[in-house]
Amino acid sequence: MISLDINGSITEVETTDDVPAIFVLRNVLDIKSVKLGCGLEQCGSCAVLLDGEPTLTCSKAIGDFVGRTIETIEQMQSPIQEALLQGNAIQCGYCINGIIVAAEGLFRRDSHPDRATIIRALEPHLCRCGAHPRIIRVLMELASR
Ligand code: FES
Ligand code: FES
Repeated sequence: MISLDINGSITEVETTDDVPAIFVLRNVLDIKSVKLGCGLEQCGSCAVLLDGEPTLTCSKAIGDFVGRTIETIEQMQSPIQEALLQGNAIQCGYCINGIIVAAEGLFRRDSHPDRATIIRALEPHLCRCGAHPRIIRVLMELASR
C-alpha cells in the first residue's frame, strides 16, 4: 500500500513502488487524462505536474511520486484548455493533455513567456497532427494578456 498526494487529496493505493506510474494513475485510480503514447518518454502524452513541474509518467515508477504533489488536468481547470478550444488549436486531441500540463507548468512560473520559451517548454511533446503552430499561436496570445 502506498499513499499519494494527488489532485488535492491523499489517496491510498494498493500497489508496489516499482509499478509504472501511468498504470497506477489510469488503471487503478481511473485518471484518464494521462495518455499512454510511446511508453518511452518520447512523446509527452503522459505528463502530469509533479511539485508543479511537468513530469512524464510512462517510464517512472510510482514510488518516485510518493511524498510529492501530483496534479492532472482533471483538477487544474486551466484557462489554457479553454483557450486552445476557442482558438481551434486541437486536431485529434491525443497530445493535448500533455501539452496543457506543460503549458500550465510554464505559465505558473512565467505568465508572459516569449515564443522561444514556449517552444522550449513544448519540446518534449509530439503532435502527430501537426497542430503545434496553432497551439503556439494560442499560447502566445495568452502570454500577451
Ligand atoms: S507515453 Fe510517456 S512520453 Fe510517450
Ligand atoms: S492534435 Fe492530434 S496528436 Fe496533437
